[in-house]
Amino acid sequence: MTKTSVIETTPTVLIIFGGNGDLTKRKIIPALYNLFLENRLPEKFAIIGTSRTKFTDEKYRSSLLVGINEFSRTGKAKKEDWAKFSANITYQAANIKDVASYNDFEASISKLKAEWKQDPAILYYCAVSPDLFCTIAENVSKSKLENNKDTTRIIIEKPFGRDLDSAKTLNAKLLTIFDEKQIYRIDHYLGKEVVQNVMAFRFANTIMEPLWNRTHIEHVQISVTEQIGVEDRGSYFDHAGILRDMIQNHLLQLLCIIAMEPPVNFDADLVRDKKVEVLKAMRKIIPGMIDKVAVRGQYGPGWVEGKEVPGYRDEIDVDPGSNTETYAAMKFYVDNWRWQGVPFYLRTGKRLYKSASHIIIQFREVPHNMFTNKAENLPKQNRLIISIQPDMSIKFQLESKTPGLEMTLNTVDMVFDYLGKTKIDSPEAYETLLLDVISGDQTLFMRADQVEAAWEVVMPVLDYWENNKMPDFPNYPANSWGPENAEALIAKDGFHWINLPDKNLKE
Ligand code: BG6
Repeated sequence: MTKTSVIETTPTVLIIFGGNGDLTKRKIIPALYNLFLENRLPEKFAIIGTSRTKFTDEKYRSSLLVGINEFSRTGKAKKEDWAKFSANITYQAANIKDVASYNDFEASISKLKAEWKQDPAILYYCAVSPDLFCTIAENVSKSKLENNKDTTRIIIEKPFGRDLDSAKTLNAKLLTIFDEKQIYRIDHYLGKEVVQNVMAFRFANTIMEPLWNRTHIEHVQISVTEQIGVEDRGSYFDHAGILRDMIQNHLLQLLCIIAMEPPVNFDADLVRDKKVEVLKAMRKIIPGMIDKVAVRGQYGPGWVEGKEVPGYRDEIDVDPGSNTETYAAMKFYVDNWRWQGVPFYLRTGKRLYKSASHIIIQFREVPHNMFTNKAENLPKQNRLIISIQPDMSIKFQLESKTPGLEMTLNTVDMVFDYLGKTKIDSPEAYETLLLDVISGDQTLFMRADQVEAAWEVVMPVLDYWENNKMPDFPNYPANSWGPENAEALIAKDGFHWINLPDKNLKE
């Protein structure tokens, strides 16, 4: 995962399909702009945005500038920086479904080749609806657009398929056109700063490995809660649901990073092999067991920060009788030597009390309490708390003596906080990922077998939920921690969901 410096990289053309879309304006262009500010882009770099709408280059650039000013972590663009960066951006209206439209890209690329006197790497970014991924790949292959196996790459956004079969079909199709090493399937959680740090934390510290197993770890919680509702994505979300939208990809990938065996080195395939092994080791959920290991919820109306918000069924583009889940909590086991018997609890949902993503590793109780029998003096179990967002920190909770004449215990934190290194200093996930595509590093991208293995894990629950409607939806109010039976899911094993306090407040 060494990042390539500007000097080493080949001239590059990035064609963004969906160039006028929300993702391009919120994430892709601000990320490229910040890479540019850090001098990380190749010296010869061109961005071609494309969509159906007609724009002049100028108008297109102005619309991207609005996005940067609103969404870039570095704030509003400085005039001179923007002028230099935007000089690399052009726009071409095109009909993605029509091969003829691709000739225009070919003409632009030939012009750049002549100017640069070098063949550029060509990156195709599919920031479009998933039903167009194959069309783009096919049309790229039918047109005479560069397909150099070493330097042509295609970037695919999620969702990658809507179930195991469609993911297999999509993989098979893409692999008739591109080699696996040319395909970059994005899961943006893998680019998040703290998520990457979990690997460093686990594999660059000798003290972690002896503790990182069933002997010392009692259970693991992975929690990604969001305060927002479905916003303007009702038509997509109502056909997806949170299990497809978040668990099949982001949360299972977090689980893989916690549970994987150490790879021999950071070679992209070696790292991904280890993650696939985790997915393959996950205990199959059998149909009769689903209600014991999976809970779903849908939000009702409520109040969030003094504002009244609608229930899910009243959101725009959502079926008023929708059975789609906006919350899911699940329990998994990884059946191998390291993790046998250790439950992994995953939960995620929209319109919850707080937006926060964290992983909690709960260690086992001390084997014998030698202090007192007073309940308040029982040593609490140690925890490792990995906060991904909005707080970014890794914290060990240990027991310690409270200063004073008595032997009383108190929980203290050993914290690695990204102090000061918050939003502005830490690269956004998309910066890391785009730089990796430019440098040809696939470590943080999903390989075909990885995506399919993740679908395999969730398929029984997806099928069951689709075929068995929930009579009591909506079953949690906005601004809550989700449905009550999610508490029961974990409580029956003797645990509870750990809702982290805001910084400096007690749990
Ligand atoms: C996306 C999901 O992949 O991740 C969204 O489609 C979700 O529904 C988003 O809101 C969360 O990402 P982040 O980076 O804001 O935690």
